[in-house]
Amino acid sequence: MTTARQPGRPAGSASVRKGERATSLRYRMMALARTRENVISLGRGDPDLDTPAGIIEGGLDRFAGLATDPVRGLLSLREGIARRYASERGVTIDPATEIAITNGAQEGLFLAMLALVDPGDRVACQDPRYSSYDQAIGIAGGDIVPIPTGGDRPFHLGADDLRTHARGAKVLVFVNPSNPTGSCVGPEGVRGLASAARELGLVVLADEIYEDIVFGEAPFLSFLAADSSRERTVVLSGFSKAYAMTGFRVGYLIGPPAFIDAVEALKSTTSGPCPAFSQYTALAALDARPDPRQAYLGVYRRRRRALIDGFTRLGIPHGPHGGGLFMWADVSRFGMDAETFCYRLLDEAGVLMFPGNSFGDRWRSWVRVSLLAPEAQIREAMDRIGGFVDTIDGPVHVNPDVTSGS
Ligand SMILES: Cc1ncc(COP(=O)(O)O)c(C=O)c1O
Repeated sequence: MTTARQPGRPAGSASVRKGERATSLRYRMMALARTRENVISLGRGDPDLDTPAGIIEGGLDRFAGLATDPVRGLLSLREGIARRYASERGVTIDPATEIAITNGAQEGLFLAMLALVDPGDRVACQDPRYSSYDQAIGIAGGDIVPIPTGGDRPFHLGADDLRTHARGAKVLVFVNPSNPTGSCVGPEGVRGLASAARELGLVVLADEIYEDIVFGEAPFLSFLAADSSRERTVVLSGFSKAYAMTGFRVGYLIGPPAFIDAVEALKSTTSGPCPAFSQYTALAALDARPDPRQAYLGVYRRRRRALIDGFTRLGIPHGPHGGGLFMWADVSRFGMDAETFCYRLLDEAGVLMFPGNSFGDRWRSWVRVSLLAPEAQIREAMDRIGGFVDTIDGPVHVNPDVTSGS
C-alpha cells in the first residue's frame, strides 16, 4: 500500500522524509533490541519510572464520566495549569483563552506547527534537534533554517546565533532543556534569546517539556517569563516527563487567544479532546503532595552522576548536561561512525543508545544516551561499554571542544 504524501509541497516533504528516516532509525534499533536478551536500554526518552499510584487514584476519584469536554480541554485542568504558572513561573495566563490541552506534547508540537507555519515559511531550529520537528515543519510546508551549535562553539543556543542565522525566519523552535544534547539555557540566556527574538520579529515556540528536570543551581526560566513578546510566544509542555505520565498523553500549549483558537479548530477535526480520564489524572498530578517531581529529579541526578562518572572513566567526551533526560557523547575516537558504534554496541555488549545522526545529519560521531534505566544498570552499561571499547583498535582523537562534564 502506498500512502499519500503532501502533494505540491516539495520543500516540506524533503524534511518530512528526513524526519521519518531519523525516527525510523531509532525505532529499528529499538526493534532489534527487543530481539536480544538482557539489553540495557539507554535509548528511548520516555521515563521508566512509575506514575505515582496516588496520582492514578486521584485521577479515578476525580473522573466524572465520559462527558464531551471542550476540545481545548477541561477548564479545571487549564485553571490548574494557569495557577501553576502563576505560582512557579510568575506568569499570568488566562485559562479560558490561552491554553489548549493536547494528546501529549507530541500532538501539541504538530498542531502548533500547522497553526503557525504556512507553506514556504522559514522555521529556525537548533541543529542537532528532536527530529519530530522536521516532520511537523515539513507537513506544514515550512522550510527549516538550521542554527548550528556544537563544534567550535557551545551547544547552548545564544542570542547571537539568532542574529546570525534566524534573520528572515518566521518561527523559532527553542527546546530548553535540549533533546538530544542535554544543554540547558539559563535565565540570562533565555532573556537574551527573548530580546533577540523580539528584535527579529520571530514567533517563538518554546518547547519546555523538560522544564522540571534541571540540574544546575539557577532556576528554570520559562520563555513566557523572559520579557518575551506574549503575542509572539507559544510554550509547549506536558506531564509525560515531569510526572512519568507518558502513557496518559497529556500535553498543553500556551499562547495568544487567536493561536489557541486555531489549535482548537485543527484539533477538533483531527483528534478531538484529550481523553477525560487522562486529563483528570493530570489534574491530580498538579495537586499531588508530596510533589513527585522533586523525588524524580533526585533519581535522575544520581543516574546522571553515574553516566558522567562512566564517560569520564572511559575518556569519552560528553556535552554539558544541564537538564533533560539525555546526555550527548562524542565517540569519534573509536574510528567508526556513530551508527556502526551503536549497532555494534547493541550486538556485542547489549547496550542500546541512539546514533547522533538520528538528530541531524552532521552528528555522525555522536551518540544520545538516556538517563532512563536504574542507576545500577547504568553503571553496568558503562562497564559493558568499557569492555566493548577495549576490543576496538580505533584511532584516538579526543575532541577538545567538548567539555568533560561536571
Ligand atoms: C523535545 C520534545 N518535545 C516533545 C516531546 C513529546 O512528549 P509527549 O510524551 O508529551 O508527547 C518529546 C518526547 O520525547 C520531546 O523530547
